[in-house]
Amino acid sequence: MERVRIARRIMIFWTLFIGIGALVGSMAMLIKPDGSIMQMQGMLPYFQVLPFADVLFQNYIFSGIALLIVNGITNLTAAVLIIRKKTVGAYLGCLFGITLMLWIMIQFVIFPANFMSTIYFIFGLLQFACGIAYIIFLKQSEFVFDEKAYKNIGRKPDVLVTYFSRMGYGRKIAYEKANELGADIYEITTPERTKGFLGFAWLGRFGMHGWAMPVNAVGKNIGKYKKVIFVYPIHVFAVASPVKGFCKACKGKVKKAEYIAVHFRKDSDFSKSFAQMDEALGIRADKKESVVCKFGNVVKRKQIQ
Ligand SMILES: Cc1cc2nc3c(=O)[nH]c(=O)nc-3n(C[C@H](O)[C@H](O)[C@H](O)COP(=O)(O)O)c2cc1C
Repeated sequence: MERVRIARRIMIFWTLFIGIGALVGSMAMLIKPDGSIMQMQGMLPYFQVLPFADVLFQNYIFSGIALLIVNGITNLTAAVLIIRKKTVGAYLGCLFGITLMLWIMIQFVIFPANFMSTIYFIFGLLQFACGIAYIIFLKQSEFVFDEKAYKNIGRKPDVLVTYFSRMGYGRKIAYEKANELGADIYEITTPERTKGFLGFAWLGRFGMHGWAMPVNAVGKNIGKYKKVIFVYPIHVFAVASPVKGFCKACKGKVKKAEYIAVHFRKDSDFSKSFAQMDEALGIRADKKESVVCKFGNVVKRKQIQ
């Protein structure tokens, strides 16, 4: 996956950049504890507001050791783990972004406003945000779907399973259902952008406005099926806009329906989406199911009355 590779490289950059910077800074402090290498002699008085300052902050030895441990060894360890493609490295890299922000917050309290503290706080925030993205991309990349594994599809084609799926999670659930029933399968597609970050934002825009997204010409005779099972993701607390567009395009043709709503919230069934579907199709569904799905893994299924 391309974005895992990019996120991994960015995290290698952040952990090495912060780790090497901290290592160099701490060495300078330990070699010359008066702070003269970094011209920090004049800053020692600011440290005197800290607890145990009379013991710890009369020179830069304690600060140097703390910097080496808190931002140096930690980030360099994370860098090695990320380079070696260990998942724990992603979590540590992300965590050390928070550590850096906390470190800088102490500086905000003791030093007057200054450029270096501000920029390093922003670096910590970026490291944390990139770490979150890296963890998410890694989780997404673990999801596998093999269409060829579903050999029973289309054996008893009086039922149709139709789905819209951006990440492929709903597609897997739809294929499993169609395979179980021997049903036909149909993917709802749209000429609008739905992939990548822009696709996410575009679907979000349609979702926020409650709009139906235009869909490509429906390549199935919907009217010939005894039942249509809709597998749809929840977008912005409601039925995803391409599914709304599909319902519009085949209103009056669906004889019987069943709904499977896919989302990631354990605390909600999104029952309102079933009423939305009934209204859009002009019928009442026989069966409704709410499926909680995290990175493609089904964690909860609930039949709704
Ligand atoms: C634009 C957008 C908005 C979303 N809004 C919600 C939401 O409000 N609640 C929720 O639980 N999931 C929401 N999701 C997440 C999807 O419902 C969830 O990841 C689903 O499993 C995706 O299935 P898919 O891979 O089949 O598209 C949203 C996803 C997108 C793209």
